[in-house]
Amino acid sequence: MTARLASLHSADASLVLECRGDGPPLWRHLGARVDAAELPSLADTRTPASFSLDRDVPLASAPTGGLGWFGPETLCLRRGGQRLVVDFTVARVQSEDGAITVLLDDPLAELLLAQRFSLDAGGAFSIDVRLTNTGSDPVTVDWLASALVPLAADSAGLVSWRGRHNAELVEQHEAMPQQAWRREGRRGISGHGGAPGVLVLAEGAGWDRGQVLALQLAWSGDASLSVERDDEGFWMLSAGALLQPGEVILAPGESYHAPAAVLAVSQAGRNGAMAQHHAAMRSRVAWPGGAMRPRPVHLNSWEACYFDHDAARIGALAEAAAALGVERFILDDGWFRGRRDDTAGLGDWSADPAKYPEGLGPLAERITALGMEFGLWVEPEMVNPDSDLYRAHPDWVLALPGRERPTARGQLVLDMARAEVRDHLFAALDSLLRAVPISYLKWDHNRDLAPAGGAAQVRGTYDLLARLRAAHPAVEIESCAGGGGRSDAGMVPYVHRFWTSDNIDAVSRVPVQRGFLSFLPPELMGCHVGASPAHATGRSQSLGFRAAVALPGHFGLELDPRSLTEEERAELAGWIAFYKHWRHLLHGGNTWLGEGPDGLVWQAAGQADQFLLFVIRPAPALDRRPQPLRLPFLASAGAVELDLLRIAGGDGGHAAHRPALWQGTARFTGSWLAQAGLPLPPLKAETVAIFRGRAA
Ligand code: GLA
Repeated sequence: MTARLASLHSADASLVLECRGDGPPLWRHLGARVDAAELPSLADTRTPASFSLDRDVPLASAPTGGLGWFGPETLCLRRGGQRLVVDFTVARVQSEDGAITVLLDDPLAELLLAQRFSLDAGGAFSIDVRLTNTGSDPVTVDWLASALVPLAADSAGLVSWRGRHNAELVEQHEAMPQQAWRREGRRGISGHGGAPGVLVLAEGAGWDRGQVLALQLAWSGDASLSVERDDEGFWMLSAGALLQPGEVILAPGESYHAPAAVLAVSQAGRNGAMAQHHAAMRSRVAWPGGAMRPRPVHLNSWEACYFDHDAARIGALAEAAAALGVERFILDDGWFRGRRDDTAGLGDWSADPAKYPEGLGPLAERITALGMEFGLWVEPEMVNPDSDLYRAHPDWVLALPGRERPTARGQLVLDMARAEVRDHLFAALDSLLRAVPISYLKWDHNRDLAPAGGAAQVRGTYDLLARLRAAHPAVEIESCAGGGGRSDAGMVPYVHRFWTSDNIDAVSRVPVQRGFLSFLPPELMGCHVGASPAHATGRSQSLGFRAAVALPGHFGLELDPRSLTEEERAELAGWIAFYKHWRHLLHGGNTWLGEGPDGLVWQAAGQADQFLLFVIRPAPALDRRPQPLRLPFLASAGAVELDLLRIAGGDGGHAAHRPALWQGTARFTGSWLAQAGLPLPPLKAETVAIFRGRAA
């Protein structure tokens, strides 16, 4: 029998479902692009297996347990306290305009499940799932997977990230599990391990080759990602928001919408999957005015003065910033009522009368007159017990009756599920934005949630952000949570930047930023030049190295320029000018990452005919001479001209020690650079060689 198929095809990949009889569609393929016009039905290809049910139960688009499916389940529900067994029949499968919509129905369980598989910008697949209670009794949702998909039989390993404050996005490599692998976040935010995401690498896959499946959830709260192998030998990947028991109860007619999953399947390795995610994220960013404008150079006041500031000090800092070419000045923590340290003030969002007796208006005007935008730090979801807000509304925080209210950094968490809390915060932020010319908010979240706020907390925050964005569409927002604790696709529609890490040590930053780029594009990655020694690690690095490592992201400063020497200030101004000159290549285009011999890592940004290449040497070389660096992204480029613009760090790569090649413009073919490699100048530890490449 010939199968009836519903398929989606990107340039690299195909997603193929088989429609059959009344049952939900079956998974036939998720992998490299195939021509699936005609196919024998799955039933005709399945061999009988001993000790199996008489009714064959292969992996469906929405597998449910209890009637013969023993693998991971799409949903877990209760009605009247009892497990609700679901057996969907198909009501409709519709395939049009780059999307497959599957509508599943269970008249006995009185449920509808709508699944939408669509092609995202850039070739990733996007999956949306909505469950509706069509019965007359409530249904408790304990789990609804955003995605549950088959993995290729030649899957070889998993790449994921873990992390903590000051050490985000530590990359982990694990073999495919014989039983199960799980990554769960239960801290209420996506956390310092980065976006809720995972890569599945096929045998032989690397940065530039082989099949890589990369999934991220558009969700900023608790999440579960798991890979299971069933006893037929198949791996399946499931991902979804973790719900608190009893948190989601659907009244008759109500729906629960799972967070979207973005799923890239690339045959061009990790870089191919990364490009698909960058495109998908770019299509979700809501830039003021509809398009990204060049990312302005920041100075963020935190590490320049922490809580110790007033109008005079900030004014002087702003002047020093403007003199270097800074374009946006962000006044960090410490500006609001009662905020002398981190024990008081959160919740009282008006200027501290002791530090800013005339309010923020004159300061904002001074900063604007210096030609910079004015940005302000807030932490709206938090409150200190020592604040007027808490004294007035002690019942507004996440708390359990009769239980302790555990503080972290001396603060409690407002219950964002409550409309009156959101209304209050909206009014406070709205009046701040109306009173003062503020064009940017750094929106922080400096603790884990205990007690848990569940999905409602996350959705409450999204709701507040959406309302504020609608009322102040010109204001950009940065997401921060003790550095990179909330850097995920769920926040992308509301924000324009993520603060990648409070650790600005440039050696530490190299892997953190590479982890960030796996799912989110470089223009959203906040990267600052910090002081030396670095406040987070105590290590010292040259200004050039610090600047070059920060350069590929959304560049800024996190120091007091007045603490630098005249020469250092001039050098920093040079780096700021360099960033402004090249930012059109750094942002909005392709990013390619790779590793070279002897501990080198590299990244390039732009297009194959016009790009910047950063070759980073974090630690000393072991080899006597540098080996050529292969640049696979140039494989199909014609003639390429390369200029070594700078060697940042070390002694600046003393010109006399450079090979003759790097005294001028070098010419190669793309295939030579991809296969034989780029001859490199010698690089000392903690240096970055920056090349400009273009089609000759
Ligand atoms: C967090 C942020 C920092 C800074 C402080 C202020 O730790 O990550 O950048 O804003 O809060 O308290």
